[in-house]
Amino acid sequence: MKKIIETERLYLGEFIINDAQLLVDLNSDSRVTKYTESGDITSIEAAEKKLKTDILLQYPNKLGRWAVHLKSNNEFIGWCGLKYVEKENVITLGYRFFYKHWGKGFATEAAKASLNYGVTVLKLKNIIAKAAKENTASIHVMKNLGWYI
Ligand SMILES: CC(C)(COP(=O)(O)OP(=O)(O)OC[C@H]1O[C@@H](n2cnc3c(N)ncnc32)[C@H](O)[C@@H]1OP(=O)(O)O)[C@@H](O)C(=O)NCCC(=O)NCCS
Repeated sequence: MKKIIETERLYLGEFIINDAQLLVDLNSDSRVTKYTESGDITSIEAAEKKLKTDILLQYPNKLGRWAVHLKSNNEFIGWCGLKYVEKENVITLGYRFFYKHWGKGFATEAAKASLNYGVTVLKLKNIIAKAAKENTASIHVMKNLGWYI
């Protein structure tokens, strides 16, 4: 994995096409996809398509939904990062983690580091995050970033 960001407990780095199964595993849990748009990425074909037509295309611009691994044992725990959304002309911060790793502060840690990278390294002026109002966990993360309005 090409590492982009390191935090106290995590590495954030680029996905590769061979990581399709990781996305299938992550998206096959309805608790994880309940408030998101990609609940349908539950086959290798769909995950490869997502990688080729979306995720990998962000990396040349230094943006990306980055794979998040634990430093302690290299386990893949989800993704976090910045993405340019063409139709809205905005850069969004997003995050998604395996259910068993919720509530350990990983989303907050990864999101803070992604935001810091966007602002200090990429010199971005506008980064947004959106969540369904019922998605309390995601809104908690935004509040932790000092962001929620
Ligand atoms: C949103 C998500 C990434 C949060 O991950 P996480 O690693 O549990 O987040 P953190 O541990 O950093 O927790 C952030 C805060 O949310 C709280 N929280 C976590 N899960 C919660 C839940 N289900 N309900 C209410 N609060 C919750 C934590 O207690 C913590 O609060 P605190 O900082 O005030 O103590 C995770 O729930 C997830 O992957 N959800 C599915 C994908 C998704 O919805 N992504 C966001 C789309 S907008």
